[in-house]
Amino acid sequence: MKILSKVLLVGLVSISTTSVFADVAQSEKHAIKATELRQSIFSLISSNMGSLGAMAKGQIPVDATVVEKNALRINQLSLMLGDYFKTDTSSFNVTTDAKNSIWTEQDKFATNIENLTSASSALMVAAQSKDEGAIKKAIGGVGKTCGGCHDDFRD
Ligand code: HEC
Repeated sequence: MKILSKVLLVGLVSISTTSVFADVAQSEKHAIKATELRQSIFSLISSNMGSLGAMAKGQIPVDATVVEKNALRINQLSLMLGDYFKTDTSSFNVTTDAKNSIWTEQDKFATNIENLTSASSALMVAAQSKDEGAIKKAIGGVGKTCGGCHDDFRD
């Protein structure tokens, strides 16, 4: 019950966070900082996804407690993406794989963020069921949202 209400709350929060978008970076220094910060979020998302991917592939046993914990973290990290992508760095020479279309197709990018938020919520619910098949399927669902966004918005 506690986690379920968290999932609901997270759903509500995502509506208000992903709609605030795009301030142009004011200097190269600002653009570099903004780039490092958004990349840090993906490093953390990826670090929480690693063991889940291995579980889905059967390389390590499925551990529902770890899945639930990591899914919650990914969910929370996903809620930060809208804010950390708000700064449009496209006119600066920063080391980034982010495509400039992120700031010209903001609605589409926001939808991709929401897909990750809802897939990670679904994974939390699957983890609670402790049903291994459902968990693996839901991990795949999260993975799909990574690839979906990378195809369109990452070099
Ligand atoms: C809403 C779009 C979106 C989603 C969803 C998304 N990514 Fe990304 N990801 C990006 C973009 C854009 C970059 C490039 C950021 C940059 O270099 O400024 C990136 C970069 C990364 C990086 C490199 C970070 C670095 O240090 O440069 C990793 C790792 C990564 N993503 C993993 C993931 C994983 C794992 C998932 C799913 C659990 C995921 N991403 C979901 C858009 C997304």
